[in-house]
Amino acid sequence: MSVFDVMPSRRGTGSLKWDQRPELRPYWVADMDFLSPPEVIAALQRRVEHGVFGYAIPHDGLVESILDYLRTRHEVSSSPDDLVHLGGLVPALSLACRAFAEENDSVLTCTPIYPPFLHVHKDAKLRLTTVPYITDGETWTFDWDGLEKAVTPSTRLFLLSNPQNPLGRVFSENEILQLAAFCERHNMILVSDEIHCDLILDEVRTPHFTAMRLPECYKERTITLLSPSKTFNIAGMGYAYAVIPDQSLRKRFVAAEGHTLAEINCLGYHSAEAAYRHGEPWRLELISYLRSNRDLITRFCRDEMTSIKIPNIEATYLAWMNFHQTGIANPALFLEKEARIFLSDGRYFGEQGHARLNFGCSRSHLEEALSDIRKAMENRL
Ligand SMILES: Cc1ncc(COP(=O)(O)O)c(C=O)c1O
Repeated sequence: MSVFDVMPSRRGTGSLKWDQRPELRPYWVADMDFLSPPEVIAALQRRVEHGVFGYAIPHDGLVESILDYLRTRHEVSSSPDDLVHLGGLVPALSLACRAFAEENDSVLTCTPIYPPFLHVHKDAKLRLTTVPYITDGETWTFDWDGLEKAVTPSTRLFLLSNPQNPLGRVFSENEILQLAAFCERHNMILVSDEIHCDLILDEVRTPHFTAMRLPECYKERTITLLSPSKTFNIAGMGYAYAVIPDQSLRKRFVAAEGHTLAEINCLGYHSAEAAYRHGEPWRLELISYLRSNRDLITRFCRDEMTSIKIPNIEATYLAWMNFHQTGIANPALFLEKEARIFLSDGRYFGEQGHARLNFGCSRSHLEEALSDIRKAMENRL
């Protein structure tokens, strides 16, 4: 029995995932149904017991834990000045659009993609250009020719999700180097959202190459966005940070904040510190559990429900399911009606005919979803 076999009831707790559509079993929004590491819960309890919740700053212990994390996990040596503390990654994507482009300039990204990537440009009245990833059926990569054709002199930013949500791809060092060279050739800022980088399921086979390790020459155009939120299941705490070693780039980014961002709360800071300081053994157990969930859903699609196609999931707890061969036009709606389960609708990621299943849950909860999908599919025949 694993700690991850235990799923506390979240119904009626004001959970976005569980309480938005209480009539359905939820496998949609990207948080996990697990308790956070005990050390994180203890750190929060200590801070709550203090009882005073005035404005907070990123305290020394937090900054130290981030710098340690960057050094040990990414082999990157940073200074406190390189960090910009934020209440979330999505506001950071929006901020980057406002900081580095002018009205009517454009932003480039590849699809399918986590939905806010398709909308943050509007905050700065920019245009959006998307280029679909290309696939051999199981592995997805950049369409380099498509990107060259899509880019224009007014394209100012490239928004990257690595590891990729929803494809679960961990881009290789070569791919990231090629992307950086592409951004340099076209004078674009590379915004690398690496929120899922501690959720790599086979790290030996697919190591993460962070944009922070790009050669020095790319520093003036690279922003890396990170957070312990997905890995340690503290997304609701609202804490993230940007690493921007280039001072002038960082100043432009911070200046764009204006008065648009709220203060970050003290619980966000303290949970992040505890996660980075004490969470590693828990994280390793989590990865092993998620890997088994990944294998279960992969076998389910490849051996049983062969008309549902699924990529090789290298990272994340998200499975991008392609229903094109089933003839089901809107799989999320189909599964809602016929299986009573709630998945993310692929349309919002820029692709029809897909649904994203969140397997950050207990094995039995995942098995229930697969069994419900099987029954719904069989009933169609
Ligand atoms: C790629 C990616 N970026 C950002 C976020 C959300 O970040 P935040 O809650 O910090 O705004 C998610 C959440 O699923 C995500 O998958």
